[in-house]
Amino acid sequence: MKAYIGDSPWTDASGMRTAECRPSTVYIPEPTRRTMKSTIVLLGPPGSGKGTQGEKLCSEFGYVKLSTGDMLREAVKNQTELGKKAKTYMDAGALVPNDLIIGLMKEKMAAANGKVILDGFPRTLEQADALGEQMDVDIALNLDVADEELIKRITMRRSCPSCNAVYHLVHNPPKKDGICDKCGSELYQRDDDTEATVLNRLRTYREKTMPLVGYYYAKKKLVTIDGVGSIDEIYEKVKKAIQ
Ligand code: AP5
Repeated sequence: MKAYIGDSPWTDASGMRTAECRPSTVYIPEPTRRTMKSTIVLLGPPGSGKGTQGEKLCSEFGYVKLSTGDMLREAVKNQTELGKKAKTYMDAGALVPNDLIIGLMKEKMAAANGKVILDGFPRTLEQADALGEQMDVDIALNLDVADEELIKRITMRRSCPSCNAVYHLVHNPPKKDGICDKCGSELYQRDDDTEATVLNRLRTYREKTMPLVGYYYAKKKLVTIDGVGSIDEIYEKVKKAIQ
């Protein structure tokens, strides 16, 4: 006996019964499905916890996280052509042009094979369309946090230049002051984590990235999570959403 999970094999797209209907087939309806989502887009303003929650999902469930912010910072550090072009935009709290980002991500998406978390991509409607051409998004998780809290989080963030781990001086401090728990490197404050740049990043987010909330809602992929609470409390909500 054969079991089908998901879309009914007995009907076509218009809901009509198809010739494939076999009495020996058991159909398990959608609500009983407990498969973990494979391709997750993390949406949300700067500092909402995308990187933090993404890292936790990678550690527990073996996702691969593709973070455009981490890739760009790496390019800036190594002074590559991309890094040189991107730095001015990043320092100003603006978005790096779509053609550069889509070019960077096309290769990574083509190589991605399995469970993927997209952190910070897409950030514009054009990027979302480019993503849709290469991958089916299973869920877009939108972390909702108010601006005052975002500013507090970002200005007190410390990051690891080697393994990209992220800390917060109060909510998630490293065990040893200024040193990464994971790899022992010295922590630093990102150039774009000043209050003035954060305000620009929030403006850019509202103008360019917030339309993606409607975009994924229309595709029935959007789940919005209240991103205020402890890191572990938010993580419990994230896990529920992706199962
Ligand atoms: P990127 O690095 O992606 O920055 P971002 O989206 O602004 O997001 P952040 O990294 O600031 O925050 P997050 O949501 O990951 O929060 P985190 O978990 O660290 O991009 C940087 C720049 O690169 C952009 O401005 C742009 O110029 C360019 N760029 C990147 N992608 C691009 C794209 N696709 N197109 C064009 N340009 C692009 O948490 C923040 C802090 O809060 C941490 O200290 C953390 O410990 C703490 N924290 C987390 N959760 C909680 C909690 N629940 N309670 C208390 N504290 C918490």
